[in-house]
Amino acid sequence: MKKIKISPSILSADFSQLGREIKNLENSGADMIHVDVMDGHFVPNLTIGPPVIKALRKYTNIPFDVHLMINPVHKYIKDYAESGADIITIHPEATSSLQESIDEIKKYKKKVGLSLNPDTKIEVIEKYLDQIDLVLVMSVFPGFGGQKFIKNVLKKIERLSEIKDKNSFKFDIEVDGGINFSNFKEVLEAGANVLVSGTTIFKENNGDIKKNINFLKTI
Ligand code: DX5
Ligand code: ZN
Repeated sequence: MKKIKISPSILSADFSQLGREIKNLENSGADMIHVDVMDGHFVPNLTIGPPVIKALRKYTNIPFDVHLMINPVHKYIKDYAESGADIITIHPEATSSLQESIDEIKKYKKKVGLSLNPDTKIEVIEKYLDQIDLVLVMSVFPGFGGQKFIKNVLKKIERLSEIKDKNSFKFDIEVDGGINFSNFKEVLEAGANVLVSGTTIFKENNGDIKKNINFLKTI
C-alpha cells in the first residue's frame, strides 16, 4: 500500500494570516506545505518570494514544497534554498541548463523537483529522472488556483509511473491543479503518490481542513 502525501497549496490560504494558516495545516495532517511562487512573467500572477518564506519557516517543521513558477530560475535557487525551502521544483522551460539547475539545487542539499506543464512532454525531463526526487505533474496551466482538472493528464501520470517502476526510480509523482473529491482517486490509481490541493482543502466542508486532508488520504 503506497503512502499518500498531501501538500496543501497556500495559494488558497488567507494571505494576511499565512503563519497561522500553515500551523493549522500542520495540525490538520498536512505532510508538506506547497508554496506557489509566481513572478508575473513565467505565469500571469505574482505571489511571494524568499523574504516571506523565511518569515514562515518558524511556523512549522514540515517540509516546504516550493514550486517555482519563475523565469529565469537558476540565479534565484540560492535565495529559495537559504529562505527555508526543502524541495525546490522548477520548470524546465525556465532554465538554459536543466543539469546545472539540478546541480545547483543539490549544492544546497535540497530535494529536486521538475514540473511538467500540461503541454510539456515527459521526454523533456526523461534523462534526468534518475537524479531527482519529485516530478510535479501540472493538471492545470500554472498561475491560478480554482481551475478545472485537465483529464488527459492522467495518461501522462500513467506513463510516468510505468517509467518509474520499470527503472526502479525513486522520485515521487506529485499532481497539482484542480484536484477534488471526485477525481483524486483516479489520480492516485494512475500512479501519483503526492496530491497538491488548494481550493478543495480550504473550501470544501465549510473549510474543515482536517476533514478535507483526511478525505484525500483515503483511497
Ligand atoms: C497553480 C498552482 C497550484 C494551485 C492548486 O499554478 O501551481 O498549486 O495553487 O490550486 P487548486 O487546488 O485550487 O487547483
Ligand atoms: Zn503549485
